[in-house]
Amino acid sequence: MITTRPAIAIRSLRRIPYHRFHSSVPRLTTDFAFVFDIDGVLIRGKKPILQAKPALELLNQHKVPYILMTNGGGVLEKTKADEVNEITGVVPPISPLQVVQSHTPIKALALNHGFNRVLVIGGDGDNARTVAGTYGFTDIIMPIDIVNAIPSVSPHHRFTAEDFAKYAKPIDLTKPVDAILVLNDPRDMNTDIQIVQDLLNSQNGLIGTARNTHHIRDLSEPSIPIIFSNNDYLYANDYNLPRFGQGAFRIITEKLYKMTNKLKKHQTLQSFILGKPFKIQYDFAHHVLIDWRHKLINDEIMSHHQILPKLGVEPVETPFKKIYMVGDNPASDIKGANDNGWESVLLKTGVYKDADYDTMVAKPTVGIFNNVEDAVIKILESHNVKV
Ligand code: G3P
Ligand code: MG
Repeated sequence: MITTRPAIAIRSLRRIPYHRFHSSVPRLTTDFAFVFDIDGVLIRGKKPILQAKPALELLNQHKVPYILMTNGGGVLEKTKADEVNEITGVVPPISPLQVVQSHTPIKALALNHGFNRVLVIGGDGDNARTVAGTYGFTDIIMPIDIVNAIPSVSPHHRFTAEDFAKYAKPIDLTKPVDAILVLNDPRDMNTDIQIVQDLLNSQNGLIGTARNTHHIRDLSEPSIPIIFSNNDYLYANDYNLPRFGQGAFRIITEKLYKMTNKLKKHQTLQSFILGKPFKIQYDFAHHVLIDWRHKLINDEIMSHHQILPKLGVEPVETPFKKIYMVGDNPASDIKGANDNGWESVLLKTGVYKDADYDTMVAKPTVGIFNNVEDAVIKILESHNVKV
């Protein structure tokens, strides 16, 4: 569905005072939109990609709706928006409602998940606890709480006395963990590997227990569910070579689980994986994009209220004829866009290198560009927007 300026008969128009007419007619936005990846497209680590600011400001100027969709996370959407605003210097700043991180869809899950206690993994300090709490979880524990209570759980842990004092919370060890949420890349990989394996193989999520496997028919199902918020095995920061991401932690977790449970060749640990390139993420982002367009039209861009869709539900109607996913990673950004009927645009400012062209898992539908500004200008021109 495309929203156009309402048809108002000339006669009725005359009866409306100009100022009322002016303020009540929605501002038009386009029937196409952009979704930008963050790392390797707008920034690299803490450094800006210089073409990001002019590219986003061009879209602001032409009222083209856009949001950011990153497989990063471990912080609140507002923190991520502030970080991108500060590094790129874009004006006006990006709203937190324009940010979809890998774990943002969990917002829509938090109200009716049925989990009492969750273990959150990843991120700096206790940011992940803050994220889960803001999303609506109430009993949230972290590996540092468990190590604080029982240090021998992870004999080689990297936590300092200061970390324990600042971030650890006392926990009741008799209460089971109902689910594991991996919200970001582990910081103390060794501790996280150990605690996650303990719980996947525990007696119904009780810390310090081991399940009896004799009567379990399908050992690929862990004792409690595990949700990985992204699958990126590689991502781009300011180093010249790609770095391992959360996907590397998933691979290690699956491998150890498979060995521990002697799974057959074709069996893998059952888990839920969010983030690009999966449909669940693209559907969620599509809803966010529609909500943002609505806010642009109605001058509500300062609003803090977001309409959250049900997870896994495609928008019934969309005002967009084309959604352009602009990314640097063929395996996440481009594959996800292609699989979900979006246009895909690949940049050379991140993970992708020319030498990867023949072997990449998905090819961009629009093309490969040197940077985000070149891509945005080309696409705007193709829609007859004067730049
Ligand atoms: O940890 C961040 C990384 O996995 C990817 O971020 O913005 O390129 O999706 P992005
Ligand atoms: Mg990227």
